Amino acid sequence: MTGIEELLLSRIRDVADYPEPGVMFKDITPLLADPAAFTALTDALAEISVRSGATKIVGLEARGFILGAPVAVRAGLGFIPVRKAGKLPGATLGQTYDLEYGSAEIEVHAEDLSADDRVMVVDDVLATGGTAEASLQLIRRAGARVAGVAVLMELGFLGGRARLEPSLDGAPLEALLKV
Ligand code: PRP
Ligand code: MG
Repeated sequence: MTGIEELLLSRIRDVADYPEPGVMFKDITPLLADPAAFTALTDALAEISVRSGATKIVGLEARGFILGAPVAVRAGLGFIPVRKAGKLPGATLGQTYDLEYGSAEIEVHAEDLSADDRVMVVDDVLATGGTAEASLQLIRRAGARVAGVAVLMELGFLGGRARLEPSLDGAPLEALLKV
């Protein structure tokens, strides 16, 4: 394991049986509270974004906002919020996706992305891949290209990478940690 992987992993807290019995929640708040770890994470995700040729960073509400906004600043790129439905005031595109029970919808301001954009999606966790997949569909429907997806952590046992593969269409999925 590399130094940065050890640092990041050491600042993620496992919380058993949250939000429901049998689930091990990955709590990133200790990492956010540690300036050295948060800076290392931001720098790593910004480096991935610049290397991919991204022109915009999309952050996925809510934890993807916390990580994606500093990454955008660090990379010198614009930040576009993909929000849970009903929160954006302008003309939006919406995409629904399945949850374990029921479904959810995310939205983006249609005017924030154009055919000139290559978009890097930033989030904390790739689990089933449903949220990230919906965001890639939104980006394409807005007419932009996908530069990739960059996450702090991939939960490999949930199969998100395989689910995301068709929507990535050859773009990279980068996870700093695989657990
Ligand atoms: C969590 C996490 C990812 C998503 C991953 O978000 O932050 O965005 O789930 O799950 P998936 O790969 O199965 O879609 P959630 O909306 O639960 O909470 P948040 O608003 O705190 O980010
Ligand atoms: Mg989230």
